[in-house]
Amino acid sequence: MNILLLGSGGREHAIACKIAQSGNCSKLYIAPGNAGTAAVGENVSLDMADFDAVGQFVLSHDVKMLVVGPEAPLVAGIADHFADTPALSHVMVIGPKRQGAMLEGSKDYAKAFMVRHKIPTARYQTFTKATLKEAEAFLDTLQAPYVLKADGLAAGKGVLIESDLKTAKKHLREMLGGKFGDASASVVIEEYLSGIELSVFVLTDGQHYLLLPSAKDYKRIGEGDTGLNTGGMGSVSPVPFADKEFMKKVEDRIVKPTVRGLREEKIDYHGFIFVGLMNCNGDPYVIEYNVRMGDPETESVFPRIKSDVVELFENTAHESLDRCMLSVDPRTAACVMMVAGGYPESYEKGKAIDLGEEDADVQVFHCGTKRDDKGNLVTNGGRVICTTALAATLPEALMKSYNRAATIHWDGKYNRRDIGQDLLKLMI
Ligand code: AMP
Ligand code: GLY
Repeated sequence: MNILLLGSGGREHAIACKIAQSGNCSKLYIAPGNAGTAAVGENVSLDMADFDAVGQFVLSHDVKMLVVGPEAPLVAGIADHFADTPALSHVMVIGPKRQGAMLEGSKDYAKAFMVRHKIPTARYQTFTKATLKEAEAFLDTLQAPYVLKADGLAAGKGVLIESDLKTAKKHLREMLGGKFGDASASVVIEEYLSGIELSVFVLTDGQHYLLLPSAKDYKRIGEGDTGLNTGGMGSVSPVPFADKEFMKKVEDRIVKPTVRGLREEKIDYHGFIFVGLMNCNGDPYVIEYNVRMGDPETESVFPRIKSDVVELFENTAHESLDRCMLSVDPRTAACVMMVAGGYPESYEKGKAIDLGEEDADVQVFHCGTKRDDKGNLVTNGGRVICTTALAATLPEALMKSYNRAATIHWDGKYNRRDIGQDLLKLMI
């Protein structure tokens, strides 16, 4: 069948590589894609937010499956558009409808869902401008550090963690005053969870689920987890401390009640659930849900999936995931992200990229790249390219990934040198 994948990052390049390997994919289109996806399928210049244009492309190119990479089209209802348009309703859509996507689109909705289904998460309350006084009083009952979250999507910037109560109250007033526009018209205030973060990924058809490999990403720009937040500077899969015992707790306390909750609330959900977790002394707590795969977690999770992903997606759409077994490469994957100088603040685009020497053992995923008018490969975003190596051990995977990354160049390239080091220390 013909398949259309929406998105343009490293996540989409990694997903595209797996889809293209499947015997069930005749033609793969990626919209808008990047220079890496252009080598795996055909890039199409489509605006993901223009559902009519996406629908027309799907019809004119006989696309049978739509795989949605990022959250924005899901939160805006692309899966509903396909289901509700008679000419498109036969298309398999991988990604939840609007109501399911609210798990990412509204922190308040996600927290209330967790409370309804007794899923462990930090204690919280939600406030608006009208309840500012109550919000300040709630902050007074909490201990530092204080966690403030814009309710809506704020491009990954809507969470503030502040140790000083007065400053936290100032941030609260700014958020409710429109710091993140409509996204912070409601603010979730929650207890701080102390522990180590990890991400767990689930593919669900709304009835059944498959637990995909776990991963850890590195969000800060600076080594030792310092500096500004980024989209993610690297990832490792699996997470060594997510052993059988811990993952059983995750499955019993979080994954099963989440899927059961979707079913009980009659929320049609065909797609990924990305559960951001905190491991607090061996017990998992949900920090957030996302309704898509993570980036750059996908770049270490997908290379480990040995099953035919198109077959998994077909069974997801047909609510028959119970027929599928997931086959996973037991080796460790390590992904190192290379970014433009200045990122995540202002940075330049259009720098010529030298891809260095190929290494059959290391995959290179493109994130913000494109071909310029002359066909040269140039930077086209903050996160530019990442390398993923698979090896028997984490140190080996890191070494291979870093060696490959060292051969890639452009003016201003930066990468963290300490991806995975925290996990190695825990393993000693
Ligand atoms: P979120 O967008 O909800 O994932 O939050 C962004 C980041 O803030 C998370 O990845 C955590 O590092 C941190 N964070 C969010 N909520 C909490 C919390 N309750 N306790 C500690 N850290 C948190
Ligand atoms: N790496 C975090 C995310 O994709 O949201």
